[in-house]
Amino acid sequence: MKAKKLLAVLLSVVMAFALVACGDNGGNSSNSGNSETKEEGTSGGGNKIGIAMPTKSLERWNRDGSFLEEQFKSKGYEVKLTYSDNKIDQQVKDIEGLLADGVNLLVVAAIDGESLSQVLAQAKEQNVPVISYDRLIMNTDAISYYVSFDNYTVGKLQGEFVRDKLDLDNQAGPFNIEFTAGDPADNNAGFFFNGAFDALKSYIDAGKLVVQSGQTAFDQVATQQWDTSKALTRFQNILGSNYADKQLDVALCSNDSTALGVTQAIESDYKGDKTKVIVTGQDGDEANLANIVDGKQTMTVYKAVANEAKVTLDLGVAILSGKKPDESLIKESGWDFECSYDTSSYDNGTGVIPSYLLVPTVVTKDNIQKELVDTGYYTMDDKGYPHPVG
Ligand code: BGC
Repeated sequence: MKAKKLLAVLLSVVMAFALVACGDNGGNSSNSGNSETKEEGTSGGGNKIGIAMPTKSLERWNRDGSFLEEQFKSKGYEVKLTYSDNKIDQQVKDIEGLLADGVNLLVVAAIDGESLSQVLAQAKEQNVPVISYDRLIMNTDAISYYVSFDNYTVGKLQGEFVRDKLDLDNQAGPFNIEFTAGDPADNNAGFFFNGAFDALKSYIDAGKLVVQSGQTAFDQVATQQWDTSKALTRFQNILGSNYADKQLDVALCSNDSTALGVTQAIESDYKGDKTKVIVTGQDGDEANLANIVDGKQTMTVYKAVANEAKVTLDLGVAILSGKKPDESLIKESGWDFECSYDTSSYDNGTGVIPSYLLVPTVVTKDNIQKELVDTGYYTMDDKGYPHPVG
């Protein structure tokens, strides 16, 4: 008798909890989609996601924006997506607009990692958590998490590719190399450059690799806004001043938008054998993959941004449900790709930001099919050129 009474009391407590939980979600009932995740993601945390992307002019952000939008929407969230035309003031205004709109979570890929402290202080005041997406946002304690690829490894893969391609451990050289890096306002750019430079430094020190321009410091090789035409002009100057009668062996470019400019400069201004120049990149932009197929670019480091968006979604859902995500998110989410939880590498000036880091892949002409097409990220047209899906 006693046991039955206890069971009844327990049951009523459980039911009361269940009712309270349903009540919490009542306000979100207009959301369609996967109700299971929706309940977990929105209870107490709201359902409006603000996504601030830097620009439509650099190919990858279009993909990031649409993957993020699509994924959050598919779980029943309302999404506000902004692009800020690579203009810092515009991005500040856009984020202010998102906050005024009542977003419950911000996902921000910064144009300038140093310029968002004030507007993000506002986010913190409004209790809006912020995920720093792909690029680390500096000098603000408003950031909860960072989601990106292992940026140093991206550069390292480029450097190691060059080392292996030239067989630097066995060949005497000397080979000529020039570096082109990214936007100094983007915290990633230094990581990419350092990763590549560190992988090649011992060969430069040994005189096996020579930088004829003498430009080996990040500030000398950086490209404002990752702009293709700026990379083109700088490289034309380098070719004109240093390679009129010399062979260029490597153009180490941090990403595809800069590689595109450098390739154009080689096409127009390099007198030597263009097919022999090793050109690196990053992202798998459509034009660059076409150049890889045509032999004008040698490799790109591919980062599956669809997976970066997936991590951001699961992280966002967990944050909004009041959890404090950590390493266990990786297991719980059951992603079919590699991702690590890092609590030491990315200090934004206010402390280390817990980071989820995905793993980049080297893509060359030989493995485009396997890495990009068979995996479903790209389709191949009947002329043999890949095109991104989504
Ligand atoms: C991204 C790269 C991209 C570059 C320019 C970086 O922050 O990590 O993937 O190539 O910005 O858009």
